[in-house]
Amino acid sequence: MDISGKTAIVTGAASGIGLGIATALAEAGANVVMADIQKDLVEQAAHGLSGTNKRVMPVRIDVTQEQSVLDALAEAERNFGKLHIACNNAGVPMHGTKLIDVPPADWEFVMGVNIWGIIHGIRHFVPAILKHGEEGHIVNTASVAGFQNRRGTNQGPYSMSKYAALSLSEALEQELEGTNVGVSVLCPGPIATNIARGARNRPDHMGGPQVKANDEAMLAERLATMGLDPKKVGERVVDAIRTKTFYAFVSAVPAAVIKARHRRIEEALNSPWVTHY
Ligand SMILES: NC(=O)c1ccc[n+]([C@@H]2O[C@H](COP(=O)([O-])OP(=O)(O)OC[C@H]3O[C@@H](n4cnc5c(N)ncnc54)[C@H](O)[C@@H]3O)[C@@H](O)[C@H]2O)c1
Repeated sequence: MDISGKTAIVTGAASGIGLGIATALAEAGANVVMADIQKDLVEQAAHGLSGTNKRVMPVRIDVTQEQSVLDALAEAERNFGKLHIACNNAGVPMHGTKLIDVPPADWEFVMGVNIWGIIHGIRHFVPAILKHGEEGHIVNTASVAGFQNRRGTNQGPYSMSKYAALSLSEALEQELEGTNVGVSVLCPGPIATNIARGARNRPDHMGGPQVKANDEAMLAERLATMGLDPKKVGERVVDAIRTKTFYAFVSAVPAAVIKARHRRIEEALNSPWVTHY
């Protein structure tokens, strides 16, 4: 798909991967709606990009809230007209606590942002792209955590949300077959972003901002030392849109762990309990 002159919305665009995607799309000639729950920061980020003559617009969004997604979409269409590309990227971490100890409010927070954020994007951005008949593309941010649970990190709730992002993307790809709207699922390994402090923007209706200093410091350290520059992820996304690549891996991928998981599933399929389908 040709990106130049098209309009894109990117959620979680004030920081990290979302900012990298917004930057790469703007550099590829798209009009970019930068949507984030951090209003001041996304305004600053948009200002930084528009300083280079790019057509960018900041908008506040809380992807956990359907009305907020609808409001951001309306603002995007008012400003730029037709929407062509939607990157459902906003996400938060959840690590360092065993499943049996994660409080219900924390489950709701990770599912609210990482899963409902994508569901709201599918329910509203996709029809907005389909309605004008021009080419379009959806990019959902999953993770390598959508293919395996990383041993020792106790990030089961996060992984669950990324398996869901992967499944939603696979289902959406099937449903959009025969249209001119493509789908990619972005699967980054470690990227140097602010995700370790992801609970800093926890919406008030989900318990408000929180800090878990020790867990955050460990994750921040790992990402700072082995994480890829988010700008590269933005370039990966632009390439995935242009080439209509579905599984868009980027950065270090634990391929051996993912393959071992798949082998274990295949072996289980050889069981005498499995009948012909
Ligand atoms: N950093 C990594 O190593 C990595 C790896 C794989 C996948 N990811 C995924 O990439 C995505 C982006 O994360 P990042 O690493 O850039 O983190 P980040 O914290 O740097 O950026 C996330 C952005 O999302 C915004 N956000 C959070 N909750 C929101 C909400 N309810 N509504 C709207 N915006 C909201 C934040 O304000 C922030 O600007 C996430 O989905 C994350 O799970 C990150």
